Amino acid sequence: MLDFLGTKQRTHNCGELRPANAGQAITIMGWVNRRRDHGNLIFLDLRDRYGITQVVLDKDLSPDGHAKAEQARPEYVICATGTVRERSAETVNPKMATGGIEIVANELLILNDSKVPPFSPAEEAIGNEELRLKYRYLDLRRPEMQHNFEVRHKVALAVREYLSNEGFFEVETPFMTRSTPEGARDYLVPSRVHPGEFYALPQSPQLFKQILMISGMDRYFQIARCFRDEDLRADRQPEFTQIDLEMTFPQQEDIFRTVEGFLKAAFDVSGENIEAPFPRMTYDEAIRQYGIDKPDLRLPPLTDVREAFTAEELVSLKIEAGLPVIAIVIPGQVEMSNTQRKAFVQEIDRTVGPDLAFLDVRRLEKSADYAALAQRIDAAAAKNCGLDRVEPENRLIVLSPRLGTMAPAMDHLWLYKKAGQLRLELAKRFQDEHKAFEKKGAADDYRFLWVTDFPFFEWDEETKTWTFAHHPFTSPHEDDLKAGRMESDPEAVRALAYDIVLNGTELGSGSIRIHRQDVQQQIFRALGMSDEEAKERFGFFLEALQYGTPPHGGIALGLDRLVMILAGASSLREVIAFPKTAKAIDLMVDAPTPVSDIQLRELHIRPTKQ
Ligand code: AMO
Repeated sequence: MLDFLGTKQRTHNCGELRPANAGQAITIMGWVNRRRDHGNLIFLDLRDRYGITQVVLDKDLSPDGHAKAEQARPEYVICATGTVRERSAETVNPKMATGGIEIVANELLILNDSKVPPFSPAEEAIGNEELRLKYRYLDLRRPEMQHNFEVRHKVALAVREYLSNEGFFEVETPFMTRSTPEGARDYLVPSRVHPGEFYALPQSPQLFKQILMISGMDRYFQIARCFRDEDLRADRQPEFTQIDLEMTFPQQEDIFRTVEGFLKAAFDVSGENIEAPFPRMTYDEAIRQYGIDKPDLRLPPLTDVREAFTAEELVSLKIEAGLPVIAIVIPGQVEMSNTQRKAFVQEIDRTVGPDLAFLDVRRLEKSADYAALAQRIDAAAAKNCGLDRVEPENRLIVLSPRLGTMAPAMDHLWLYKKAGQLRLELAKRFQDEHKAFEKKGAADDYRFLWVTDFPFFEWDEETKTWTFAHHPFTSPHEDDLKAGRMESDPEAVRALAYDIVLNGTELGSGSIRIHRQDVQQQIFRALGMSDEEAKERFGFFLEALQYGTPPHGGIALGLDRLVMILAGASSLREVIAFPKTAKAIDLMVDAPTPVSDIQLRELHIRPTKQ
């Protein structure tokens, strides 16, 4: 039999009572976390968002309450009224915030029962993620998840507050709009009243925020939902949220300062202190030092240690001398079992392919012929990384093209990118043993970096054309425009685009935009878009650009990614309340689903496959 709540009021939550409250008459409500039956005494741990409080039902004091407690099971919803009692020294539970007290109940109401849950929210780790997503409401009851959403809430609030104080207006932009070019596929919404026509869900508010600058809004931001139909990974969801902003008349510096400001505020409310301004690196430097455009500064850079080899050694080790010999320092991976070592070597072979060879310097050290070389490599790597020496507990490998494999595509950048990719794969694979990736402890846990001066164009191997590296509204460097490099040397044109990177994750991207219609049209042409095509896709925008568009620029940061890092979570799914699986399915509501024929007819849609 379930009880009615009547006029009962909760006086306290399950996380706040302390010995100082002893003697008070209180009413708490929550879910049964655990129940322990000791005959005449039954203990119920009640749980809510704020914590867990122990309630005692004594058969002698409250026979009715005790009888109810006998029926109570995990996840039942309970209302307990009684008195706060300080626990005796030997029964204090130091692990619980409320462990100094318990509630001696004189009345217990069972407000609702619960089916036996498929997993217990009282348990810390649940291995089966599909089950967690299907029963997301139970999963979200777990304290760990509630903590993640507290972080998320506080971060969003801190960002809003900061930007608002800096004069930014939050403006909402439409969900039902036209295709925006962020490089992913669109989610489409069919129109009932316009047969055969579709809205697109925004991949970002990009064009709207630029138009808001044309509208004289001066400073815009939005905690904006974006939609992208792309291949999903741990750090990608089809629906995600950006901290999106745009400013009129900015220099790159203004945008950097604004982002540093709100990030500092966001880290502050999460109890973390970060130092601004953040270091900067151009795209070229990033590739040359880290082999990737989102360097993880917790790791030492890649360096060329060719100088350590004699000409004979290069020949006898079959190393191609025309390109760098890249040293990769991998913190803390020296102790490996044979099985681990085998996996390590396999991973290297798989990642770098047949044209590259690697040497394990820690093994070289042990060979009579090459011990001296190993020492020279060690010294060169240390010198180039600005270290006194490479700590012997760090694994050190060198990567170089095999003698006789040189092909035209194999240049410095290609090699550094390969080495960067390899290091990342190794870090991912061997992360558990990887000291540099341990979350807490080190003073430099959060290594931010601005990467600037991205190339404007990217060569698309698939279509064999130049495509935009950021998006087509990004301004090229004025110097490159003035020098006519757009036509003469597109590869050398730099974009006024920048990324904010944190510990190897791209947190955000932005740029100074094109504000002149003639330049915008020139860029579309350079991207191989005819004037007609540009007009068809972006006519409204090209039109708007002609009405006194001020210079402007902005950036967007992934809020989910930021919260994921701050909460120490391993996937975006841990910080999005109702996320999708890697196959873009919402397991709880079971979406997507087929729809009725009537609905399809109304939308003028005939599926080709049921
Ligand atoms: P961009 O496409 O680089 O830039 O996106 C900016 C940031 O949004 C986050 N992000 C994602 N997070 C989760 N799941 C996804 N599928 C996903 N895709 C992107 C990342 C990324 O750095 N309009 C431009 C910004 C600008 O130029 O102002 C844009 O959207 O953290």
